[in-house]
Amino acid sequence: MKSTLLSLLRTKDGEFVSGEKISEQLGCSRTAVWKHIDALRKEGYHVEAAPKKGYRLSGEPDTLSVHQLESRLAETSFIKKVLHYPTIHSTQDTAHQLASEQAGEGTLVLSDEQTKGKGRLGREWHSPPGTGIWMSLILRPDIEVRNAPQLTLLTAVAVVRGIKQSVGLEPEIKWPNDILFNGKKAAGILTEMQAEPDRVHAIIVGLGLNVNQDFFPPELEHIATSLRMEKGKKVGRSDVLQAILEEWDWLYSLFLKEGFAAIKPLWEAHALTMGREISARTPKETLKGIAVGIDEAGVLLLRTKDGKLHHIYSADIEV
Ligand code: BTN
Repeated sequence: MKSTLLSLLRTKDGEFVSGEKISEQLGCSRTAVWKHIDALRKEGYHVEAAPKKGYRLSGEPDTLSVHQLESRLAETSFIKKVLHYPTIHSTQDTAHQLASEQAGEGTLVLSDEQTKGKGRLGREWHSPPGTGIWMSLILRPDIEVRNAPQLTLLTAVAVVRGIKQSVGLEPEIKWPNDILFNGKKAAGILTEMQAEPDRVHAIIVGLGLNVNQDFFPPELEHIATSLRMEKGKKVGRSDVLQAILEEWDWLYSLFLKEGFAAIKPLWEAHALTMGREISARTPKETLKGIAVGIDEAGVLLLRTKDGKLHHIYSADIEV
């Protein structure tokens, strides 16, 4: 009900909507409309009321609630269910748990704060309350196990395009999963899988995006940044999230139809690493050379001084 009411007020672009129209569309009494409006106000929405005119939405809080998001997503969105937690250990762990309990494709787990946010390679992901987008998405694509990492690259494209669309900033992608502004990390992607050797059961794509932090703890301040720091002013988290999910939507359906080949040029358009000298720390060794590109599967190609071309499946990259 709240989601529908919000969509209705939003589609009017700041104009007044009559109480009668709202009660008609929601199928409830005028008194019930008033109660819902009151509930929205208590959550921080600015809803003006004027006699004979009705109600008008003039401001929204920077929260990431279920009805906020549901009211912003198209009915055709691949997101089928949104779960929001004020605080959680890790959206990734909860999404894993839900996936093993058969949660469907398009289940999105969001949290305002994570107390045990996980990064790649067992690192911690700093996720303070009310400042970022901490989310994990459950997917069940019919793809080969070895192609699952392509979803990391697809997500990176959605994040960069979504940020450009909503904030007007254009970050770069560092293979495979970092979103950077001038070498500082604003977002990271963690793609994990529940699978048998030849069958994917579920893929959990986790995204951590620093949106409104205006400082980082000393151990992160030289390597991390946020959209607010880059833009020089506060940014609406819901606007950014909505834009990323909209980008994600069409990229994912393109991927399912045409495979990674259709995503690759979009990824390359934003890739920082390509053609540059990099050092790749793999679990086995550290290789230095030129990042020549990615192959059709999304694997990083690195040419060392001796002319040898190496296929890098997993590594920490330094540019
Ligand atoms: C990385 O760059 O190391 C990946 C970071 C991924 C962090 C996100 S935040 C939401 C989701 N839940 C987690 O615990 N981790 C991912």
